[in-house]
This record gives sequence, C-alpha cells and structure tokens, in this order.
Amino acid sequence: MKKIKDTIEKIEKSCLKSCNTAKSADELEQIRVEYLGRSGKIAALMSTLKNCSLEEKRELGPLLNTLKTLLQETYETHKKRIDAKSVSKQLFDVTAYRPHQLRGSTHIYTQLIHELSTIFISMGYTVADGPEVETEYYNFTTLNIPEDHPARDSHDTFWLCTPDRLLRTHTSSVQAHEMEKTTPPLAVFAPGRAYRSEATDATHDFMFTQGEILLINTDVSISNLLATAQEFLQAFFGKNDLKIRVRPGYFPFVEPGLEIDGSCPFCTTGCAICKKTGWIELLGSGLVHPKVLQYSGIDPEKYSGFALGFGIERLAMIKYGINDIRLFHSSNISFMNQF
Ligand code: FA5
Repeated sequence: MKKIKDTIEKIEKSCLKSCNTAKSADELEQIRVEYLGRSGKIAALMSTLKNCSLEEKRELGPLLNTLKTLLQETYETHKKRIDAKSVSKQLFDVTAYRPHQLRGSTHIYTQLIHELSTIFISMGYTVADGPEVETEYYNFTTLNIPEDHPARDSHDTFWLCTPDRLLRTHTSSVQAHEMEKTTPPLAVFAPGRAYRSEATDATHDFMFTQGEILLINTDVSISNLLATAQEFLQAFFGKNDLKIRVRPGYFPFVEPGLEIDGSCPFCTTGCAICKKTGWIELLGSGLVHPKVLQYSGIDPEKYSGFALGFGIERLAMIKYGINDIRLFHSSNISFMNQF
C-alpha cells in the first residue's frame, strides 16, 4: 500500500512537470496517452487495486480518482494554453506564405469612374461631385422642370421622409451646384449614383451610376457637343473609327435635345448587341436651356453650353458584354474578378 501511495505521488509530480513544459499539442497528446490513456499509468495503477484488500481499496480508490481528475484538468488547462498560442501565431505571422489567398482590388465601379475621369480630364474637364440626397430645387426646378411638369413623373423618385429631400434621380442635379460655384468658362464631368424607384430587370436598376458633362463658355455650339461625344466614345470603346449619329430627344433642360447613337463597336454589318441595326443608343444631350443658365445667374445672352449624360453601367455592359445590370452591385466575386 505504501508503494502504491508513493507511485501516486510520483505520477502526480512527473505528469504536472511534463504538462508545464510541454510546448506543442503533439507533445501534450503524448503526455495524455502516457498518463491517462487506456494503457497509461493511471489505468495500470487502477488494475493493481484488484489485488488489494477491501480496506486498502477503500483508501486507495478515492486517492486514485482524485489523481485522475487532477491530471485530466491539468491536461485540459495546458491544451487551452497551447491551442491559444497556435491561434495567435496564425493570426499574427504575417510572413507566413499562403497560396491562393484572396486579394483586394478596385471594384468595377471605381475602375470605370477612373477610366472615364481620365478621358475627360485629358479633354480639359475637372471632376465634380454632388450630393446624392438632393432638394427638388437642384434635381428638378433648376433644370427647368417645374412642380407641375410631367417630366417629374417620368423620374420615379425616391422621396425621403424629410420634407423637400429626395435621392437624386440623375446626375444632371450637379449642373446648378457647379454653375453657382464658378463663373464661366466651366467644364465639368460629374460621375455618381442616381436612384429611381423602378422595377428592376436586366437593364434597369433602382440604383445605377450616371456620368454628366457640362461645358459653359461663349459661343458653344452643337459641333462642340458632337465632337466631344465622338471623341469620348472613341476613347471609351478604344475604336478610332467609331461614328455617331443624332436623333431629336426631349429633356426639359436642353434645347435642342439630342439622343446620340454610336456605330456598333463590335460589327460592321449588324450583330446581337446592336440588334442588327449597326447603331447603339449611348448618350442623352443638348445645348443648355437658357432658363437653366438663368437659374444659376449666368447670362444666356453672353454664354451658352452643352450637357451630355449617360448610364455608366449601360456603357460598360456594351463594352464588356455584361448581360445583367444587377451584377454590378451583387458582390458576386466571380463577376468582379473578371475586371
Ligand atoms: C437623364 O437622366 C438625363 N439627365 C441625361 C441627360 C443629361 C440628358 C444631360 C441631356 C443632357 P435618362 O433618364 O434618359 O436621362 O437617363 C440617362 C441614362 O441613364 C439612360 O440612357 C440609361 O443609360 C441610364 N438609366 C436611366 N434609368 C436607368 C435605370 N433604371 N437603370 C439603369 N440605367 C438607367
């Protein structure tokens, strides 16, 4: 009995010491097997109880159980210590090589806005920004769309709970902000989000991006507008021979208003993208309406200008063959990884 008690003491000491110095999960597992495993030291001691008297069993049994619990708890404590260490190593070992790791990159929206900005900056424009939460004044009134004008209905507006606040329905709302800030000459490119309370489908979204061009100077003519439109489209689609054609269009803030089509960048004889016509609708535009100039304190007798607007996703859909506008803000990684 004395011998067994000594062994219990020895096992306790040596197991605690081994656990304290264990440095890895493997090392600790070996200790567990050595002491607590099926053929470990505790199990061996338990089996010696068979040969003891009833009295000895009554004394040694609880001692052995206490030892087993102590070793089990010691093992658990050190397991947690070692696991925590290995997790923190994983988190902070910045030099560790990880194959195929995901890398951050600029979103296609950002890439497109950079690309368009670069084109317009090279043509002498500055990039302007305007608020997405707008007032009726900037979104409609300054653009010659008074309260009872039917054009307000054609923009399915998201009205906010705050009176006189809405989500801008187009980036033309930036026009008056810019004209108020500076005196002509003025040449700005305003890209940004627009919102319309519309049912979505492959080509319509409730949130999309538009680009707006506004140029004000003396003697601005339709030729300036058309040359700018053609140069821009040629640069964006990377086609020096892209042609444009003009149709009448109606926007209350320009007079005359023009819809500009571009010759299909992908074919010469008609394809699925241009619906076999050879032409694609690309831009809304026109000469700035005198009333719009007056709203911002610019004398229409002295100055004239042109404005031009387009849907950025729609242009990108044509350029890259994207078949659903909703992919742009879907967070779909395989879609985004293509750009
Ligand atoms: C406008 O928003 C005018 N502000 C454009 C303009 C500017 C005209 C300057 C004249 C002078 P429109 O509602 O047609 O016009 O929209 C312009 C473009 O935005 C469309 O051609 C289309 O490419 C895009 N767009 C309009 N609504 C949606 C929508 N729901 N989803 C995706 N793109 C849209």
